[in-house]
Amino acid sequence: MVSKVPDKISDLRAIQVLDSRGNPTVEVDLHTRLGSVGRAIVPSGASTGIHEALELRDGDKDTYGGMGVLKAVSNVNRKIKPRILGLDCTKQEKIDRIMIDLDGTANKSKLGANAILGVSMALARSAALSQNIPLYRYLEDRKRYRLPVPMMNVINGGKHAGNKLSVQEFLIEPVGAKSFSDALRYGTEVYHALKTVLKEKYGPNATNVGDEGGYAPPIESTEQALDAITSAVSNAGYGDSEIMLGLDAASSSFYDGKGRYSIDGRSLSPEELLEYYEDIASRYPILTLEDPFDEDAFSDFARITSKIGKKVKIIGDDLYVTNKERIERGTKEKATNAVLIKLNQIGSVSETLSSISISKKAGFEVIVSHRSGETEDTFISHLATAVESSFIKSGAPSRGERTAKYNELLRIEDELGKDALFSNL
Ligand code: PGA
Ligand code: ZN
Repeated sequence: MVSKVPDKISDLRAIQVLDSRGNPTVEVDLHTRLGSVGRAIVPSGASTGIHEALELRDGDKDTYGGMGVLKAVSNVNRKIKPRILGLDCTKQEKIDRIMIDLDGTANKSKLGANAILGVSMALARSAALSQNIPLYRYLEDRKRYRLPVPMMNVINGGKHAGNKLSVQEFLIEPVGAKSFSDALRYGTEVYHALKTVLKEKYGPNATNVGDEGGYAPPIESTEQALDAITSAVSNAGYGDSEIMLGLDAASSSFYDGKGRYSIDGRSLSPEELLEYYEDIASRYPILTLEDPFDEDAFSDFARITSKIGKKVKIIGDDLYVTNKERIERGTKEKATNAVLIKLNQIGSVSETLSSISISKKAGFEVIVSHRSGETEDTFISHLATAVESSFIKSGAPSRGERTAKYNELLRIEDELGKDALFSNL
C-alpha cells in the first residue's frame, strides 16, 4: 500500500441506502482535513456461508421486514466515529485494527461487519483521493497492472432465481481475449446470443433475469443450461479456446447436512457428485468449479482437486469465506487451487488484503467477487486490479450494479493505456 502525505479524518457519516435487491445497506462517507470525501456502500449475499462475518440487521419486522441496518449505521456514527476522528486516513491497518478490537468478537457481530467494512472501504477511498492517485494504485503500487478476466454469470439458478436449477451460477470466461475490453465484448456478445437461444427453445419468459443479471430460464438441469450456453458461444462466433465455462454450484444450498446432495432432482453421495462433476468437465469446456461440496467438506474438496485440479480450477467461496485461518487450512490440505475473495465475508480491507496475500503465496488463483446483493460501488474493480486477481466475478453484463464494476475496469484500462496487461491464464 502507498502511504504518502498524512491527512486526518475530519468527519464520518453513515446512512441507510438500498442495495440491488431493494434491501437496506450501509453507506459511509469519510471526510479528511485536506478535503477528500471517500464514499463506500456495503454489498450483501444471499447464499451466504455460515462462517462469514456477521451482517448486522435490525430484525424489527415493522420496517423493511427486519432487514433494516439502522443499528449498524448508528454503530458507525456513534461508536466508531469518536475512536477514529483525527487519525491519519492512510493508516488503514491501524484503523481497521481499532474497529476490530472495538468490536471484540470473532465474527464482528457486535458492531456488524457491514458497519466496519463500510468505514474500512471509505477510508481507503478517501486516502487514495487525498494522495491524488487511483484507488487501485493506493491499494498496491505496481509498475504495470494486469486486468482480470471477467467471469460473467449468464444463467442464474439456486438462491438467485425462481427456477429449478440447483447449480447457482453458469459463467462464461473469455480467456482467449487479448484485453479486458475485448473480453467484455466477447462475453456480452455471447450474452445476447444466449437470449436468442433461450427464447427460441423455452419461450419469451426464459429471458427474464435473476439477481446477478443472468437469465433465469425455466429449465431444470445443469446440462440443459450448459447446452444453451455452448450453442450461444458458437452462434456468437467463438470457440472453446476463446471462451471457457465455469460453474458455481454453491452446493451448501442443496446439501442436506447428512451426506446427500439433491441436485437436479437426484440425490447423490459425495462420491457420486464427484463423478458427476468429472463427467460434466469431460463433456464441456469447464475451466472453473466453485463450491462443488458443502462449506465444511474440506476432504471432499481435496479429493476433487487432486482428481481434476490440473484441468479445472476448484474455487473455495463458502468454504473459505475470505478467512485467513480457513484459507490456511485449505492450503495445507490442498483442498482447492483457487479462492474467491469477498470483502464483506471478512469485513475489512486489510484483512481482505492479507487473505489475498496468503492465498497467492500458496499458489492459489485469486478471484475477486461481487455479492448477489450489490450496489453502484466499484471498489472491487480497483481491488481486482491492485492485486492482479486472475478473474473478477461481477455477474452478467446487465443490471447497473453489475455493469458498474465492468465499466470501471474499462476506465482503468483506458487510463493505463498501453501499459495495461491482461490475463496470463
Ligand atoms: P452470494 O452469491 O453473494 O449470494 O453469496 C455469490 C456466490 O456464491 O459466489
Ligand atoms: Zn459462490
